[in-house]
This record gives sequence, C-alpha cells and structure tokens, in this order.
Amino acid sequence: MKNIKNCLTYISICAFLFAIASASHSSTGSPSQHPDVINYDDFTLKFEDQFNQTEINTQYWKVGDNLVRTSQQFQIYTKENVKIEGDNLVLSAQYNSTIYDQKKYDYSGGYLETRGSKGFKFQYGYAEARIKLPKLQFQDSSFPAFWALPADNSRWPYSVEVDIMEYCNVCSGDDKNDYVYSAYIYGNRSQYGDCRIWYRSPMKQISFTEYHLYGMLWTKNEVTFYVDGVANYSFIISDPSNNKSIGCPIVIPDRDFYLILNFAVIEKYAKPEHYKEPKEMYVDYVKVYKLNNN
Ligand SMILES: *[C@@H]1O[C@H](CO)[C@@H](O)[C@H](O)[C@H]1NC(C)=O
Ligand SMILES: *[C@@H]1O[C@H](CO)[C@@H](O)[C@H](O)[C@H]1NC(C)=O
Ligand SMILES: *[C@@H]1O[C@H](CO)[C@@H](O)[C@H](O)[C@H]1NC(C)=O
Ligand SMILES: *[C@@H]1O[C@H](CO)[C@@H](O)[C@H](O)[C@H]1NC(C)=O
Ligand SMILES: *[C@@H]1O[C@H](CO)[C@@H](O)[C@H](O)[C@H]1NC(C)=O
Repeated sequence: MKNIKNCLTYISICAFLFAIASASHSSTGSPSQHPDVINYDDFTLKFEDQFNQTEINTQYWKVGDNLVRTSQQFQIYTKENVKIEGDNLVLSAQYNSTIYDQKKYDYSGGYLETRGSKGFKFQYGYAEARIKLPKLQFQDSSFPAFWALPADNSRWPYSVEVDIMEYCNVCSGDDKNDYVYSAYIYGNRSQYGDCRIWYRSPMKQISFTEYHLYGMLWTKNEVTFYVDGVANYSFIISDPSNNKSIGCPIVIPDRDFYLILNFAVIEKYAKPEHYKEPKEMYVDYVKVYKLNNN
C-alpha cells in the first residue's frame, strides 16, 4: 500500500487503509482481565457531557474551524458542522464549497476534541459515547469517528491512535455493507517495518442508524473495545498471538489521551449526490469513568 507511509501524518482519515492491508487475527491468547459486560458499579464517573446545553462547552471542547488535517484532504472542518440540537451533539458532513487560505474545499465536516480551555485527558478507564449514525449509500465516502490520541503528541512506541468507533462503507472492500471498526494503531513503519497493529474489529450485525454505545476499556495491560457494553475485541500486552501476527509485542500507552469526535469525508470516493442533504452523526453523550480498583 503506497499510501501507508502517509498514514502516520494522515491519522484517522486513512486509517482504513490499514484494514485493507491487514491480515486479521480473530482473538487474543493471553490471560485477559477485562469484564465481558461493563458493570458501572466498577467505575467512578470522571467526565461527562450530555450535550444538554445550548452551546458546545468550550471549557472541554475545542471545535475545529477551518481546520485542515492534511494537505491531501479536500475536506475542511468548519464550525458550521458542529452544533447542539435536541440534547445531542450533531456533527455533519456536507458538499458545500469553502474557500480557505486560497484553496477550495468541496466538502466540509465537523470536528471537536477535548482540548478546550480547560480540556479533558485521561489515562486508563472506560470511555464511551452513545452515537447514532446516518445511513450510508453505495460507495459513500462518509467517515464519522470517535477516537483518541496521546495528549503529549507522542507516537511510537505508544499509540498513534485508538479508534473506538469508525463507521465506513468504502473501508471494507465489501461495498454492500456499512461497517463499524475499532482499532488500536501504533508503530513506526519506517523504523520497524510491519511491527505495528492495524487490526480492526469489524461489526456489521447491528443497525448503526440506531443509537449504540461505543466504548473502550483501557487498563495497564490491555485495551478492549465494547459495543453496547459488551466486549468485542482486546489488545493485550505481550500477547503471543499478536506477536505472531505482527511480530512485536503490544505496547499499552501509559500516558494521557484526549478524545476526538469527527465527521470526515474520504476524498477518493466522494460523490456530491451523497450529500444532497448534510449527513449527520448524533452523539447523545460522552462519558469517561475511572476504574475503582486502579
Ligand atoms: C445536563 O446533564 C447534566 C448531567 O446529567 C446535569 O447535571 C445537568 O443538570 C443537565 N443540564 C440541563 C440544563 O439539563
Ligand atoms: C457553506 O459554505 C458557505 C461558504 O463558505 C458558508 O458561508 C456557509 O456557512 C456554509 N454552510 C454551511 C451550512 O456550512
Ligand atoms: C521512525 O523511524 C524513523 C527511522 O528510524 C525515525 O527517523 C523517526 O524519527 C521515527 N519516528 C518516530 C515518531 O519515532
Ligand atoms: C464482535 O462483533 C462482531 C460483529 O457484531 C461479532 O461477529 C464478533 O463475534 C464480536 N466479537 C466478540 C469477541 O464478541
Ligand atoms: C514478543 O516478541 C518480542 C519481540 O520479538 C519479544 O521480545 C517478546 O518476548 C515476545 N513476547 C511473547 C509473549 O512472545
């Protein structure tokens, strides 16, 4: 994949390429500590936004406005695509040409991260968001996501990104299905070749146009993704099955992460007719819990 080299600077927008390039491993082999089902009694709430105010809380959130995350992107993030409606955060993507810095962008999307004036970052715990996604069309290039990055911008050997939920139609190579993926991505390809994780857990058996909970439990030894509070896939430190498939041990980050919600458009397949109306992703709430016994 010639594009993969760009991916480390291209973060979420091209993370789907990893999926296409990867050989999947179905489950991990090490002893795992995670609960199969989330029990909220095990946690203490540390952060929440119910999006029940009239405005985005800029103490927590920084909204991307005229934000271009890579030079290759023709999609720009604008504040018009981030709003609160009916106690939901509504992120949109639309076909609406925007000129910024003498460049024309055909599509705009919504982006916000917990890097507001006060901000929010966390190390270990359970993070989840209740999200309703739009219906995608055949070869739709819409790409909404809920993900996290290291607050100190560190990379290898820590995570480049943790994708709690990415929703995509064109990512799978199977155009008939919309997919949600979770992924744990880290590594330095130029230095370590294929020593990095790009496995993503495909989920296609739920109706994404209804609300679902997308969560991640992060402990010292593993990162586990949950859908509706049920564990779906884990990355476990020093897992031999990961070793076998990626050739190096998993490193679980021991530093703060911040959260990101965004609605991107993947340029390669973008079609104006998919955006006759803006596409919208609804986020009922975001919560982060601390584990009581940690
Ligand atoms: C918004 O939700 C929070 C958390 O549940 C609650 O404490 C607060 O009272 C709510 N505010 C409004 C305006 O409903
Ligand atoms: C569409 O683009 C125009 C021109 O940049 C801008 O003024 C307008 O706010 C945009 N509309 C939305 C809904 O983002
Ligand atoms: C990745 O590896 C290359 C080649 O060794 C090195 O120059 C670069 O600094 C590394 N990047 C990071 C983020 O460690
Ligand atoms: C994860 O979700 C997918 C799709 O719903 C399902 O096929 C798979 O069995 C789940 N994995 C686990 C470990 O529950
Ligand atoms: C995994 O691979 C790394 C690097 O080859 C090695 O240092 C480590 O001991 C291996 N771990 C396991 C559990 O096999």
